[in-house]
Amino acid sequence: MSEPAFIDVLSQAEIDAIEIEVAHLPDRPSAAIDALLIVQKHRGWVSDESLAAIARLLGMSAADLDSIATFYNLIYRKPVGRHVVMVCDSVSCYVMGGESLMMRIRRHLGIEPGETTEDGRYTLLPCVCLGACDRAPVIMVDDQLAGPLAESDVEDVLGAFE
Ligand code: FES
Repeated sequence: MSEPAFIDVLSQAEIDAIEIEVAHLPDRPSAAIDALLIVQKHRGWVSDESLAAIARLLGMSAADLDSIATFYNLIYRKPVGRHVVMVCDSVSCYVMGGESLMMRIRRHLGIEPGETTEDGRYTLLPCVCLGACDRAPVIMVDDQLAGPLAESDVEDVLGAFE
């Protein structure tokens, strides 16, 4: 059985937004990350079916696009909660207490890294350097950075995200 055309999987709004990115780039595969982020913005995450459709739209293999998506840790390949809590585990945050901060967040949310709370409110993920080492230890909730974050700040910071 042949795979569905990208037009049967992606919305016109998604295709239009991806084509705007493609227009600025030397070739279609160069828009891979932008395209993944566009679809993720619309759907919350990037399913296998969505990924295959994006790959067809960009004229690349699904395997190549999947390896880009896997490498880039802001692309979610599984459903996530309403808010994604990313806790930096790279060196500056680690030495500034990132590990105990992660433990405090795990206890507060009652989940392990990679899991989503039962109410679907938060997904907890470890991540590599967020580029804000001067504010270590740092977390990012959705697109908002918080740091330097004390363990005692965890409840207030996370509580702001309904
Ligand atoms: Fe955590 Fe750079 S090491 S933001």
